[in-house]
Amino acid sequence: MTTDIRLAGVIGDPVAHSRSPRLHGHWIKRYGLRGYYVPLHVRRDDLEQVLQMLPKMGFSGVNVTIPHKENVLHLADTITDRAALIGAANTLTFTANGAIQADNTDGIGFLANLRQAIDGWHGSVGPALVLGAGGAAKAIVSALLSDGAPQVIVVNRTRGRAEALKDHFGARVYVKDWTQISDVLRDVALLVNTTSLGMTGQPPLVLDLTRLRRPTVVADIVYTPLQTPLLIDAAAWGCATVDGLGMLLHQAAPGFERWFGCTPEVDDDLRQAVLA
Ligand code: ATR
Repeated sequence: MTTDIRLAGVIGDPVAHSRSPRLHGHWIKRYGLRGYYVPLHVRRDDLEQVLQMLPKMGFSGVNVTIPHKENVLHLADTITDRAALIGAANTLTFTANGAIQADNTDGIGFLANLRQAIDGWHGSVGPALVLGAGGAAKAIVSALLSDGAPQVIVVNRTRGRAEALKDHFGARVYVKDWTQISDVLRDVALLVNTTSLGMTGQPPLVLDLTRLRRPTVVADIVYTPLQTPLLIDAAAWGCATVDGLGMLLHQAAPGFERWFGCTPEVDDDLRQAVLA
């Protein structure tokens, strides 16, 4: 039990859809902490002023969501290497004098989720195929490379964005066309969907998974629905599958630890609380 009341939240526009308040709220209650985690609707034009005020209002830090993840880097006093490499931040921590430290925990959240789901999993187990080239792909490619992945193959509908990832991250990143996915599948130890395909209301991601050499791990960052068509097909083919909710939960843990001073557990109770 802490003696002071800790404050944290999530800034975004829109922000009402965010599951972070429920997630952090579960941990605050579970560990008996005196604190609050609130959604904060912050417009782009107000971002700088809000970030100046939040530490003065007693906030320990905030998560950052769309559309502020890149812009907060221009307003931060210190930026972790991984946030600088990814070019975006999702976790800000305020020091006692109001300085802003920006971090990006999306990639380590992705890795922590894989390690929790798949015993002994490590980036160095083999090549990875990442579908998509947006912000989430950037964080995941960066994390896989730093975890020792020998090759990360990036495929994106718009090839130029995949090429930009290769230019950014270098020699171990390879770009293929969407039409070449089937040829690549047999060589990979991990397949990750970071596109919005498979999300409720979007077309499913349809691949010829019979090309995969089991036990390839298939991960999706989409978590609405939890079991995407890709994961259902992959499980039917005998692959180990990892859903997208775990990444959301694990990326939240480092911030919670810094702001509330308590290392939280990612377990089934938390999953149920966030899904409820
Ligand atoms: P995020 O930051 O969440 O990764 P994003 O930057 O909007 O979001 O990226 C979404 C990804 O989904 C992109 O790789 C996008 O492909 P494009 O770069 O070609 O836009 C991909 N995506 C979205 N809809 C898609 C579709 N119908 N088919 C294939 N890829 C799609």
